[in-house]
Amino acid sequence: MAHALRRQNRSPPRTAGVSLAAMPSLQLPTPEVRESFLAAMAEFAAERRGAPDDHTMIGHEIQTFGGTWHTTEGFAAFVRSLHADAFEETPRPVGWVPCTTWWWLGNNGYLGRIALRHRLTERLLQEGGHIGYDVRPTARRRGHATAMLRAVLPEAAARGISSVLVTCDADNVASAKVIRANGGVLENELDGKLRFWVPTA
Ligand SMILES: CC(C)(COP(=O)(O)OP(=O)(O)OC[C@H]1O[C@@H](n2cnc3c(N)ncnc32)[C@H](O)[C@@H]1OP(=O)(O)O)[C@@H](O)C(=O)NCCC(=O)NCCS
Repeated sequence: MAHALRRQNRSPPRTAGVSLAAMPSLQLPTPEVRESFLAAMAEFAAERRGAPDDHTMIGHEIQTFGGTWHTTEGFAAFVRSLHADAFEETPRPVGWVPCTTWWWLGNNGYLGRIALRHRLTERLLQEGGHIGYDVRPTARRRGHATAMLRAVLPEAAARGISSVLVTCDADNVASAKVIRANGGVLENELDGKLRFWVPTA
């Protein structure tokens, strides 16, 4: 018993694979983590995110803001645009809906992002879903995506969404595990995308 306790005391307790000693949390985007954010974006760029054929949210952000977010002012403008995207009245391309983005921040700053679209369009119902997330390459396989999705479910519930649609490519084993670990129930596969409904309460 004493031996087991001594062993437990040597390593911090863990929840969902994330160390409680450095438990990250969801935060609205903030200019304070620019340095770690830019380091993370360099990691994403190294896996070709932001290339012209990258139609993901990170791809869109790199394409739109990657030329300016290295400066203090450019980064502040990027952060402001993420905040503004949550508001109905903010101008956006046709077919886009209001969306709240949170960053998953730990002791050393930026670890990933997760975004909640406030409602579904016909196209989002088919493939995009309510939620998108990314974990920076050097922080993967430590439970962050699983914990991040878990943390965002009450936020969706608070916005009146009782079940979120979360989709992933049929061959994205990691993402499918993240969704299932959060109670995701597979509805079907459509054009190579798995479509899961995750209850938020
Ligand atoms: C998918 C992604 C978000 C997973 O993030 P993560 O923080 O590594 O995920 P977790 O650590 O919570 O892992 C969840 C499960 O997937 C498994 N996993 C993670 N990466 C994996 C990989 N490359 N291959 C196989 N399994 C993997 C983990 O072992 C874990 O399994 P377990 O529950 O059996 O222990 C991350 O790889 C990523 O950002 N990928 C690029 C963007 C992307 O695909 N986003 C999702 C779009 S739907």
